[in-house]
Amino acid sequence: MNFGEIAKTELHLHLEGAAPPTFIRWLAQEKNVSMDGVFDENGAYVWTTFVEFLATYERACEVLKTPEDFGRLVSAVLEEQARHGVVYTEHFLAPDFCGGGDLGAWKEYLAAMVEAAEASPVEARFISTCVRHMGPEQAKTTAKISAETAGGLLTGFGMGGDESQYSASDFTYAFDIAREAGLGLTSHAGEIEGPNSVAETLDALRPSRIGHGVRSIEDPALVARLANEGVVLEVCPGSNISLNVFPDLKAHSITALRDSGVQVTVSTDDPPYFHTDMTAEYKGLSEQLGWTQEDFDAINQTAMKAAFCDEATRSKLMAMFNGA
Ligand code: ADE
Ligand code: ZN
Repeated sequence: MNFGEIAKTELHLHLEGAAPPTFIRWLAQEKNVSMDGVFDENGAYVWTTFVEFLATYERACEVLKTPEDFGRLVSAVLEEQARHGVVYTEHFLAPDFCGGGDLGAWKEYLAAMVEAAEASPVEARFISTCVRHMGPEQAKTTAKISAETAGGLLTGFGMGGDESQYSASDFTYAFDIAREAGLGLTSHAGEIEGPNSVAETLDALRPSRIGHGVRSIEDPALVARLANEGVVLEVCPGSNISLNVFPDLKAHSITALRDSGVQVTVSTDDPPYFHTDMTAEYKGLSEQLGWTQEDFDAINQTAMKAAFCDEATRSKLMAMFNGA
């Protein structure tokens, strides 16, 4: 199999976390912003723990200052995804880094990103994302400006950040605003924290998808609930291994979850931070877990059913993954 050429969907990709190190260094030089401590001697992002990863990520975001920067970032990331066979994607992006919650500024950032996405052959949608450790008040502001701009390519609302901070119910109001605006909902849970974080997230926020959710495997009742309720997991195996959630792919919960009837999809999360890409993810699943083209078709069909897009786009893309 030529893993790069297989057509793929990618539902879980953080725009800022997908920024190539060369892109960030180039912007830093252009704007004279210090990136001391962000890169190692080989030019890779520096971090060891999850919290350090989030800190480096936020430092790197300091160079993304204008709508034009974000537009250029969308183009660079989509170009890279296209190289790995991605035909449909959703980008998480945090309005906190796009004008700090100001509606007028956010509109300009979003317009630049939409323009870049529309120029790409990859079909893309955006999921505006609140950052959990920035707290519920900032999340409300993010939800409000997302609701004001919902539609077009902005089709989802999500939450990332440090799962150990706050409880899911602190964000119910933000998610209610986004739901009311018609945005699709997803939230990170069960990545760093255990299965309780997934159950609490489902109860409090009622998302149709969970970012990661891979630690659900520790609670059989939760696994049954995910299967029964048809909750779709955005699984990012390379990210989980990099963050030491699992020691390697063979120990990863993706197979057990799938075999228990849970709907799984595959994405990269923050590829340069985790030294991965979609080609490497598919290669690993094939070579280490024996996944076949049929398995890849199945996860891509699941992803298109769960995608936050209009029905015409869904059926157009679904036709690519029908196993024909
Ligand atoms: N933001 C970017 N990547 C993330 C991850 N893997 N978990 C939580 N928040 C994130
Ligand atoms: Zn993520």
